[in-house]
Amino acid sequence: MRRIAFEDPGDRDTYAIAERAGLEAVPVPVDEHGVDVAALVGTGARAVLVTPAHQAPTGVVLAPERRQALVAWATEVDGLVIEDEYDNEFRYDRQPVGSLEGLAPNRVASIGTVSKTLAPALRLGWIVCPSWLVEAVAHEKRIADRGSPGLDQLALATLIESGRYDRHLRHMRTVYAARRAALVEALAAHAPDIALTGLAAGFHAVAHLPDGREERAVVSAARDRSVGLYGMSRYRADAAIHPPRLVLGFGNLSVSAITRGVAAIADLLAGE
Ligand SMILES: Cc1ncc(COP(=O)(O)O)c(C=O)c1O
Repeated sequence: MRRIAFEDPGDRDTYAIAERAGLEAVPVPVDEHGVDVAALVGTGARAVLVTPAHQAPTGVVLAPERRQALVAWATEVDGLVIEDEYDNEFRYDRQPVGSLEGLAPNRVASIGTVSKTLAPALRLGWIVCPSWLVEAVAHEKRIADRGSPGLDQLALATLIESGRYDRHLRHMRTVYAARRAALVEALAAHAPDIALTGLAAGFHAVAHLPDGREERAVVSAARDRSVGLYGMSRYRADAAIHPPRLVLGFGNLSVSAITRGVAAIADLLAGE
């Protein structure tokens, strides 16, 4: 059976999507430099889905030497890297991260979405893919759903051409930056021992709980206080693997809700 590799931790839905397409899905670990390309080589896969600019959900940026290794792997196996640029529009550290697609346009299909910039309900996105893939992708799209709604696409095109899409992005960058700052400040004030990583882009960060802390117990105790948290284990191929981490989303919360939420659960996060 043909294999596709996914980052671990990562979005678990992708496994079901791959399996429905008749592919065998294999997890490849992510460390502090991004996806482990040496481990990928050993999987026998010829395709991989990666989030190099801001790994979902760890927030790690793929290191330059790993980028080179990934492209070299794709060339070696005559394969494909699918680069998911899901939140690239929202970077806060000002250091632009080059795309893999720019490095190796013939080996990388880059996918983007308006789910983060406008709304997930629109169900619109795009693929920038090598010319050898265009016809096959267009065919799959046609037989999958006969195409995305034309009127919605035209409305999006008008928004982009008028310059309002860019204006919206500029505005939302400042809104999300304020929410991100509120999360950083609230944690520093209420749970200063908790390290927060993965903040370079997007709308989520990762909180490192003290070793030995039960992720699920923290999530459940927070829920009892009406604060919704996600544990990292829900993104792992093997949920039993530690260390304990929380994935903290701040995209759809007001600054005051973030501050109140962190204050309400600070004792659950802090060390003994
Ligand atoms: C890693 C990642 N990629 C892509 C998306 C967007 O997916 P879609 O365009 O299907 O809404 C999300 C949304 O949560 C995501 O987390």
